[in-house]
Amino acid sequence: MLKVGIIGVGTVGTSVVNILKDNAEIITARAGKEIFVKSGVVQNLDKDRGVDIKLSKDPMDIINDPEIDIVVELMGGIEGPFDVVKAALAKGKAVVTANKALLAYHRYELQELAGDLPFEYEAAVAGGIPIINALRDGLTANHIESIQGIMNGTCNYMMTKMMNEGVDYQPILDEAQALGYAEADPSFDVGGFDAAHKLLILASIAYGIDAKPEDILIEGIDNITQEDIAFAKEFGYVIKLLTIAKKSGNEVELRTHAALVPQDKMIAKVDGVMNAVSVIGDKVGETLFYGPGAGGDATASAVVANIIDIARRGKGSPMLGFHTPLEKGLTLKSKDEIVSKYYLRMGVEDKPGVLSSVTKMFADHDISIETVLQRPIDNGSANLLFATHEAVEKNIQSIMKELSQASFVNTVPSMIRIEA
Ligand code: HSE
Repeated sequence: MLKVGIIGVGTVGTSVVNILKDNAEIITARAGKEIFVKSGVVQNLDKDRGVDIKLSKDPMDIINDPEIDIVVELMGGIEGPFDVVKAALAKGKAVVTANKALLAYHRYELQELAGDLPFEYEAAVAGGIPIINALRDGLTANHIESIQGIMNGTCNYMMTKMMNEGVDYQPILDEAQALGYAEADPSFDVGGFDAAHKLLILASIAYGIDAKPEDILIEGIDNITQEDIAFAKEFGYVIKLLTIAKKSGNEVELRTHAALVPQDKMIAKVDGVMNAVSVIGDKVGETLFYGPGAGGDATASAVVANIIDIARRGKGSPMLGFHTPLEKGLTLKSKDEIVSKYYLRMGVEDKPGVLSSVTKMFADHDISIETVLQRPIDNGSANLLFATHEAVEKNIQSIMKELSQASFVNTVPSMIRIEA
């Protein structure tokens, strides 16, 4: 029998206990032994979790228990879980975590500390989709050319409802929280950080890139307005929070941000809490993974799969699947040099010469305009909406700064990248 302790018995932790109970027969057959959740740790002992396991408030109760074989870390946060996981590894315990923020900051240290101990984290990226398994095992024959997808269920749920049902931002965020999709601090979701953490994990496996969140381009969906949604609809786009790793030559670009995606693209049809990840390998071509990206049972499905795998194998493979450097000479592309098409929106005074002043600014920054649209608002103001041809990020950042200071621009300009 294999004994498990769960630190953090919330939405996902409760589902882990229930799946191990509901599917005990098939799990025992697949694992080759019985798996038993011996104990759990929670912050509030008074709250009823509906699970029949021994609960305490101190993670050390699990870490110091010689009978526990696997510590499942589902606490949330970064430094607190890091200490707990380090302590568990120091006691020789196998670790399973769903904590992408922890891995975004400490994955290389954890790989060193884990050594040959099993350390698994399938649930950290794209909830129930086995994308870690695919990258770390199934696709290892390939150079990975790109990884692109929708990796935050909360944002995708919100954008789908905002686009299809015109629901406002805050009530739909409240709904995503109530459904158990959002992080404890939902600004991690809507600010793009959660998706960026996932991207960094995938980029480590695919490229050996040891980047931190601060090194890459991260934006969220918190600035999207009904005007942007109306523009997207009129021009045949949907708005998605996209997460992208792309290799060109010796550089890899990593970015996560809202994007206008043509509505006939497969990724545009990924709605609600569903995630999708496309991986292009130089030998296999394109592979596409689709499934629920958040939620108790979907995420716990990946956690339990890791537990079964550890039960079966007994020992671990290197945590990130390799030792760096993975590809010699590969570097992270500077955020400033990223190339994309862009959509820009700004409110301006509706008077002679304004449009030509704005278009001159585009020319001065070496940005070519593909489409322009002017919409009168009221009181002598208008919204100007531009779609550009491919442009360099630093030029867009500098025109945005200049526009926000121009006397004839009367609302802060906003920008969304366009991914064809
Ligand atoms: N908050 C995350 C999401 C949970 O919405 O995708 C899964 O990582």
